[in-house]
Amino acid sequence: MDLNRRLPASAALAVTVFFLISSGGVDGNLVFNVRRKFSAKESLLSVSREHDFRRRGRILTGVDLPLGGNGHPSGTGLYFTKIGMGTPPKYFYVQVDTGSDLLWLNCIDCIKCPRKSDLGIKLSLYDPKISSTANLVTCDEGFCTATYSGPLPGCKPELLCQYNVVYGDGSSTSGYFVRDNVQFDAVTGDLQTSSANGSVIFGCGNKQTGELGSSSEAVDGILGFGQANSSMLSQLALSGKVKKIFSHCLDGDNGGGIFAIGEVVEPKVDTTPLVPNQSHYNVKLKTIAVGGHALQLPTDIFDTGSGRGTVIDSGTTLAYLPDEVYKEMMTAIMANQPQLKLYTIEEQYTCFHFGESIDKGFPVVEFHFDGSLTLTVYPHEYFFPIGQDQWCVGWQNSGVQSRDGKDMTLLGDLVLLNKLVVYDLEKQTLGLTEYNCSSSIKIKDEKTGAVYTVGAHNLGSASALVVGRLLQILSFFVLGLYTLL
Ligand SMILES: *[C@@H]1O[C@H](CO)[C@@H](O)[C@H](O)[C@H]1NC(C)=O
Ligand SMILES: *[C@@H]1O[C@H](CO)[C@@H](O)[C@H](O)[C@H]1NC(C)=O
Ligand SMILES: *[C@@H]1O[C@H](CO)[C@@H](O)[C@H](O)[C@H]1NC(C)=O
Repeated sequence: MDLNRRLPASAALAVTVFFLISSGGVDGNLVFNVRRKFSAKESLLSVSREHDFRRRGRILTGVDLPLGGNGHPSGTGLYFTKIGMGTPPKYFYVQVDTGSDLLWLNCIDCIKCPRKSDLGIKLSLYDPKISSTANLVTCDEGFCTATYSGPLPGCKPELLCQYNVVYGDGSSTSGYFVRDNVQFDAVTGDLQTSSANGSVIFGCGNKQTGELGSSSEAVDGILGFGQANSSMLSQLALSGKVKKIFSHCLDGDNGGGIFAIGEVVEPKVDTTPLVPNQSHYNVKLKTIAVGGHALQLPTDIFDTGSGRGTVIDSGTTLAYLPDEVYKEMMTAIMANQPQLKLYTIEEQYTCFHFGESIDKGFPVVEFHFDGSLTLTVYPHEYFFPIGQDQWCVGWQNSGVQSRDGKDMTLLGDLVLLNKLVVYDLEKQTLGLTEYNCSSSIKIKDEKTGAVYTVGAHNLGSASALVVGRLLQILSFFVLGLYTLL
């Protein structure tokens, strides 16, 4: 199912150490001669404060990540960007995901990787052997021991640092860590960028399962924008390249949008504190109002302390609510339309026929967060069209549970579209405002005070995609619709 991809709940790292097997055939490439090229001293997480300080002078104003895709459930359901990797750089399309940490790419020695994609992008495999700056990461290096919170049992210097990540939708990626130069577009002027690079450790994924191994909407990998030290953002920040602030504006109407690293000065956003010490972007939800009336809910329903909490996740398409919240909200939303005949498709989506203006017929939903932040979601955003005057409900009754089994609230693209969302990890706040994601934002260079415009991008032909995906979903649903008639 594409509609509820990659919930973050069970994302976790697991370790297996394995012997490096030369991938044979290709003669005498020295990239695999790890020990010589890589010493523990260079290890990423042991970069000293002085080193950071020295490099601070070169901090970039920002990074402009060109965005493609469409987060609408009847669209592609995902957003992706393009990054360069290696020397000389090769380009890869990676899904941007704030619900996970790791950057990984489909790798050359892949056992199971997608070979083509319906997203209108050409897939590539990363090959460390053709990059002069690639180095394999061994299990005794700082990055590896820090990622696994300690030395690995059985680790020998010639063993690689392997990873295995399982996403919330059950799909997984596994492989080994590589360090290489990532290329990106540094912001250097109004709507101007120039190529810059930094060294990052990322996953060379040689076995992908579930959606990641075979999906028709395949990408080259995932770029996790989580807070962990292992994320690309944390690594670039640690080496003094960027500030730990990023933002996205996912265009729900045209596809693509804005994705930038750097301090946003325009538009102004209202903020809410991030809940400390969480692996995901958790915020404190206080109340939900439908059509201006607060839902009557148990006071502890959104507690963060009890392992519940509310997660903001751009890698999830829809929005998931605890059972009680879902029922109350749906009752309130449907209150003015008692005549609607509801039907279910795919055993999961509640749908109906509605021939009038969807925004006039249904109320807005407002999420009120700790602090001054309010998130407003309009009917055309929380319902998605599946055909002429046919709409389905985007809100989902949460099957998503936190580690201790409590229902959690997970807000994905359904509510994030057409908003600028600013993740300020330095101040530990999440900011948000309604915004035209086809326009531009302004980011500031801390050192010079210069303010630069960063514009929207749209990789690939989103409008054609939307239609393509829509047809695909419809044919997928045909069985359900036939039984219904
Ligand atoms: C990476 O950046 C450095 C300057 O910081 C530059 O000298 C080098 O050529 C760049 N490498 C590539 C592959 O662009
Ligand atoms: C992440 O890195 C910072 C800075 O090096 C360090 O202080 C912190 O303990 C690390 N966090 C984890 C969870 O390893
Ligand atoms: C959004 O911004 C784009 C680019 O500036 C503009 O062409 C478009 O009309 C704007 N849309 C709305 C609804 O204002």
